[in-house]
Amino acid sequence: MEDFWKDIYTYATSWVKEAGEMIKDSFSKELLIETKSNPNDLVTNMDKDVETFLYEKIQETFPTHRIVGEEGHGTDVTSAEGILWVIDPIDGTMNFVHQQRNFAISIGIFDQGVGKIGLIYDVMHDELYHTIRGNGAYMNDIKLPMLTESPVKEAILSLNATWVTDNHRIDPAVLSPLVKDVRGTRSYGSAALELAYIAAGRLDGYITMRLAPWDFAGGLVLIEEVGGVVTNVYGEELNILEKNSVFAGEKAFHKEVLQTYINKKR
Ligand code: IPD
Ligand code: CA
Ligand code: CA
Repeated sequence: MEDFWKDIYTYATSWVKEAGEMIKDSFSKELLIETKSNPNDLVTNMDKDVETFLYEKIQETFPTHRIVGEEGHGTDVTSAEGILWVIDPIDGTMNFVHQQRNFAISIGIFDQGVGKIGLIYDVMHDELYHTIRGNGAYMNDIKLPMLTESPVKEAILSLNATWVTDNHRIDPAVLSPLVKDVRGTRSYGSAALELAYIAAGRLDGYITMRLAPWDFAGGLVLIEEVGGVVTNVYGEELNILEKNSVFAGEKAFHKEVLQTYINKKR
């Protein structure tokens, strides 16, 4: 393993763990909750504090690296040149506020647009999903095996029911047969965790019509490391600087869904 990436990874994992402690400590303090684009789009002081904490650490240690974060850092980043950190300080803020669990810190680190490091930290379960490209993916110390073939009829698919109600962003003609044919559906309320669960083989696929780069950056690197695929819902490559629809999954499941369900209806 190149020492260069190992060094970055070692810093990143220690900062993510430290940020997790900050989040846990915040439960004994007052949480300030605001809304963003709509009344259900929540942000708290902790989302902002964790992003600032990570931003400052990266800036101090790796001043040439660029950073894009959900809570406002890196709005000037318009290309994927150089080393780019894509950060979601708390993915699943609604779960964080309502449940105090089922949220994660997510970081993807890219080199000229190629994913090199993926970190997703499930703070409350103390589960860190991590990878350095080419060196295997892990959940804490446990190596995640390469994903094994999963036909639609045996698959568990994760999706958020709002996409069928909210302006019908997923064509119900595509979705209903798929939902009927898979073994089961799940929804966890944190895209980062759902992607980590695919990498860990707990889910076979995840479909959503709109995610921001910070929602999928860490998960993309993790899933690719165990042989999975992450594209938009038409099977096209994702742009790491733009909002995309996302279809992540085990390779055979991904192919079957595209061929049998999505492309047939286009
Ligand atoms: C959200 C979560 C959620 C997904 C939304 C995301 P946030 O991220 O990942 O599961 O459905 O599209 O925006 O706002 O909690 O960081
Ligand atoms: Ca998010
Ligand atoms: Ca977030």
